[in-house]
Amino acid sequence: MDRIRIVGGQRLTGTIPISGAKNATLPLMIAGLLTEDTLILENVPRLADVIQLQRILGNHGVDILIAGKRPGVDPKNGRTIHISAKHIVDTTAPYELVSKMRASFWVVAPLVARMGEAKVSMPGGCAIGTRPVDLLIMALTRLGADIEIEAGYVMARAPKGLRGAEIVFPKVTVGGTHTAMMAASLARGTTVIENAAREPEIADVADCLNKMGANITGAGSARIVIEGVAKLNGARHAVLPDRIETGTYAMAVAMAGGDVLLQNARPELLQSALDVLAGAGLRVTPTNEGIRVTRNGSGLAPVEVTTAPFPGFPTDLQAQLMALMTRAGGTSRITETIFENRFMHVQELARLGANIHLDGQTATIEGVARLKGAPVMATDLRASVSLVIAALAAEGETTVNRVYHLDRGFERLEEKLSACGAAIERISG
Ligand code: UD1
Repeated sequence: MDRIRIVGGQRLTGTIPISGAKNATLPLMIAGLLTEDTLILENVPRLADVIQLQRILGNHGVDILIAGKRPGVDPKNGRTIHISAKHIVDTTAPYELVSKMRASFWVVAPLVARMGEAKVSMPGGCAIGTRPVDLLIMALTRLGADIEIEAGYVMARAPKGLRGAEIVFPKVTVGGTHTAMMAASLARGTTVIENAAREPEIADVADCLNKMGANITGAGSARIVIEGVAKLNGARHAVLPDRIETGTYAMAVAMAGGDVLLQNARPELLQSALDVLAGAGLRVTPTNEGIRVTRNGSGLAPVEVTTAPFPGFPTDLQAQLMALMTRAGGTSRITETIFENRFMHVQELARLGANIHLDGQTATIEGVARLKGAPVMATDLRASVSLVIAALAAEGETTVNRVYHLDRGFERLEEKLSACGAAIERISG
């Protein structure tokens, strides 16, 4: 199993290219199941989760072609993939595949919408709370699917097709909104989704679906209206930049000090996080090329933050912010409202010398003058990158074990950071 070794204390200077968003790529690839034609996605990040989803789609009979190198194109830029679901040969998504990545459960929506049936294993994914799928099932039921749950599988049937409906989510759910939107695109009649997730990745997927011939309005707001169509076609779509990767590297610079251009990043995708970081003492300057972040010498100010659905502070940046606040000059408070049990990084940060007290869903972080390197363990995707951030400012050497979690969501992390001067390397085996 690979490890990452970091020696703290180096400032970061240079350019970090921001990859395409993982959380848009996955539903966009799944949307490829909605059409017989080819869906071409550009700016696809090289991530373990993308490869895993390729396997899952392949099992349904989807051909995925990854375009080779093109003259003049930087091989470090995202890839272009061609997804062709001409013949769906199997509507079952088995446990062995779905249990590795929660978002793969979302295939249930296009399969039942296009094929009239789907049998999908209940999901796995990051161990951050119970993460049920009841709201996704509710949405499909509202659209007329007949659902049975048996032996760990969700069986969805709609032999005569889905029909438009009003879907009111009692709580904001990204996966629920994606699945409702995809399924409703091929339903007969009008669907209205109320209390929809407003995450930018929802709007990106809606854009792509509209290019494929869907009729979706309001994506990005809390009310999405979908006029169902009989058929969708192929399209070409470039994945939007990853706001979580952007925020993570902004925090790395806040932690280590330095001056870095986050190339291709878009400030409007993470304004709440950028505001928090500016409050903590990071200089954030939008430029034509992306976002420039600088911190020179000054200390970090503590913050009070509560995670919330977009446009609030993202839960996917909570662990990274906590790592940063371990070095602030004072007491910070971070409250997690989206997932219970998303504090697995706390005990690992403590191994580096952090002073964090947990009370229910609120962490109180007393800033310390110094962190000290130690061996630590990655537990989930976002928690593991928070350890990398802490290690950048820790004295001496930190080894992060089980980095396969990192590889699920961060493309070439050690290369991107070492190109800016961090002392970081991957140790294989
Ligand atoms: C997505 C993101 C993940 C992010 C999360 C919240 C992807 C691939 N993943 O996950 O990175 O952390 O949004 O921004 O885009 N819930 C239910 N019942 C359901 C569905 C969800 O109770 O049927 C609850 C969840 O347990 C959680 C909350 O709703 O407490 C939000 O979950 P949701 O927005 O659905 O998260 P994901 O789509 O799984």
